[in-house]
Amino acid sequence: MASKTCSVRFLILTVAFAWPCGLLRAQSPPRLDDAAIEQRITQLLGQMTLEEKIGQTVHFADSSTGPGSPHADYREQASQGRVGSFENITGAAETNSLQKLVVENSRLHIPLVFALDVIHGYRTIFPVPLAMASTWDPALVERASRIAAKEATKDGIRWTFSPMVDIARDARWGRIVEGAGEDRYLGSALAIAYVHGYQGARLDDPESMVACVKHFVGYGAAEAGRDYNPVEMSDRMLRQVYLPPFHAAVEAGGASVMSAFNTLNGVPATSNRFTLTHILREEWRFEGVVISDYGSVRETIAHGIAVDGKTAARKAILAGVDVDLESNEYSRYLAELVRSGDVPEAAVDQAVRRMLRIKFALGLFDHPYTPEPANDGKPQLDPVNVEFARTVAERSFVLLKNGNSGGKAPLPFGSDVHTIALIGPLADNAPDMLGPWRARGDAADVVTLRAALTSRVQQSGGRILYAKGTEILTAKEDGFAEAVAAAKQADVVLIALGEDSLWMTAEAASRAHLGLPGNQQQLLEAVAATGKPVVLIVFSGRPLTLNLAASHVPAILQAWFPGVQAGPALVRTLFGDVSPSGKLTVSMPRSVGQEPLYYDALNTGRPADGVDLSRPPANNHEKYHSRYVDEENAALFPFGFGLSYTKFVYSPLEMSTSQISASGLNGNTAQAMHVSTTVRNVGSRAGDEIVELYVRLRGTSVALPVEQLEGFRRLTLSPGESKRVEFTLGRDELAFWNIDMQDLVEPASATVWIGPSSAEGEKADFVIAK
Ligand code: BGC
Repeated sequence: MASKTCSVRFLILTVAFAWPCGLLRAQSPPRLDDAAIEQRITQLLGQMTLEEKIGQTVHFADSSTGPGSPHADYREQASQGRVGSFENITGAAETNSLQKLVVENSRLHIPLVFALDVIHGYRTIFPVPLAMASTWDPALVERASRIAAKEATKDGIRWTFSPMVDIARDARWGRIVEGAGEDRYLGSALAIAYVHGYQGARLDDPESMVACVKHFVGYGAAEAGRDYNPVEMSDRMLRQVYLPPFHAAVEAGGASVMSAFNTLNGVPATSNRFTLTHILREEWRFEGVVISDYGSVRETIAHGIAVDGKTAARKAILAGVDVDLESNEYSRYLAELVRSGDVPEAAVDQAVRRMLRIKFALGLFDHPYTPEPANDGKPQLDPVNVEFARTVAERSFVLLKNGNSGGKAPLPFGSDVHTIALIGPLADNAPDMLGPWRARGDAADVVTLRAALTSRVQQSGGRILYAKGTEILTAKEDGFAEAVAAAKQADVVLIALGEDSLWMTAEAASRAHLGLPGNQQQLLEAVAATGKPVVLIVFSGRPLTLNLAASHVPAILQAWFPGVQAGPALVRTLFGDVSPSGKLTVSMPRSVGQEPLYYDALNTGRPADGVDLSRPPANNHEKYHSRYVDEENAALFPFGFGLSYTKFVYSPLEMSTSQISASGLNGNTAQAMHVSTTVRNVGSRAGDEIVELYVRLRGTSVALPVEQLEGFRRLTLSPGESKRVEFTLGRDELAFWNIDMQDLVEPASATVWIGPSSAEGEKADFVIAK
């Protein structure tokens, strides 16, 4: 059928698809259930005193070791075996020196493991995770994580506190930048990719590090988008949306999990036995380590479920937290709690066993040290990694707008562009390109947009007129005049606006306003008033409300924080060496009042379908719907959306069957069905297209989302080329947590779409029979 839709001269390839793991190269997860290791652990545990055992549950963050800190004597404590792991100590010489102290002086010579938040690169800084997610490319994320692991392990780091797999549906929450966005299917695929990248095929490979899947669980659903806020959600929502990426990461072999800061239905995540023990250990059979978040054992006092540090320690260890990150409550109270019988020693043994398990799996007992380079300075940047960072950035940009209706598309720049006005506080801003969590990235390595544009334009004899215009956050307008003057002399204006990457995004960086900060919108309007074509580049760690901006400019490129190769990646995109291909993994709101905003919402009994929501209701018929009287319902740019310089068309869907059996799928006796389409590049440029598959089920025992992503694939197509994409719909794609809280396929009327975003696509119906 597909061949009929294309002329024979175009190659048709079929790209198969399966549940996220199918996207990744075949790889069995590193195993944590090695019998020889278990025997060594048992032997070692038998020799340990209670104090030595407790040492393995203690994790210090080196940043708190200054004079007067509780850890001023941390070297002393470590040498007595009273600390099991450290973070924020980097460099082979540094880690080796502390390791030597511990291995040679502690009675049982148990090595330390050194941790760090290696989030989007170590030395080579890649785009922030939300940007990496916009590539919809698990293989690329896996390779970036592998590079991060290779670089970090050279510096003695064998444990990274990444990936953050929290689903985030509220752009006010600053940590939305650290995850994959609002969808659990894409989030699961990328969670697996991160774990595979960090952990490699074997944990005892000296270039592998243990991943830490965080923050368990629900953290991204903080009320009102304010960091650390309580989370209230049903078990169904938890299992349907928030748990799947954790489950996928654990199944992929993720060897540690971090408990979150928030309360979940009134119980702090760090003392939540239901999630930490019942779900993680009993249901999922997780054998790795659970570490608390920074100080979160002690924070259960502020939450009000512990009255003092002793209670906090007791509740956390009994709930299933093995390691106390920085609260110091385990080191203070666990021995006393065991002696009084309030905590069985077996609970401590269990925690220690898990910590020792990852140390053995990493091979640290046999190889505790990291080879030191001749010059133990900062590791050099590897040009191959840097070039790859540019590719990742190029694939992460999302082209949101390119031309007003009927007008010429400003991008890519044509040969008529000689003089470019480059304006904005992020045009020549190296530090912010790195985003939050920079590990050992260095702003000095960043090539800014200004630097890259200058070298490109110099080659072609063109001109750059640079004017900063304003700061990221200020009310002062003294730079406006210079910016407007530059715009007036230019063929085109490039304006680089957005957020400060450090204090406006990531942890403790919630925003109540989602517009361009300070007076950047006013600068944009002043520049746009010159009548010159303006291309807006947005650097941000979250979706911003860009409707006002969109009404003033013909082109918008969402660049996130692109990392060390920000400038070259942008310049290659602006000049059309590559076509933008990223797509949104978060819905972009029109107003803060729409948040939380996500595509896979449940319908209401009064959906506003067919009602004109761009104006206030004119009558009762228009009013009594689920709507705002002063804003539209839909996102400004929906989940899955992103433009290209070329154009793709999708053929009508083909299905292997129009009826499938629920009981057959549940009992594994029915074959999955296949749905396919052929995507053709009908434009004149090569480009990548992200093909998305959504499903809706009706007639089920509980209401399900109006659409749900259940498959995706990134394709590369030359002009005129077609590829056939086939997806599988089976138990994994069609089951859900039903009214009896069973994860099953139910009889239903089903619709499937395949298309370029959550808002478009070729559609077909099928039936899920009994
Ligand atoms: C963050 C974690 C991070 C930890 C490192 C905390 O403040 O919430 O994501 O891994 O610090 O210590």
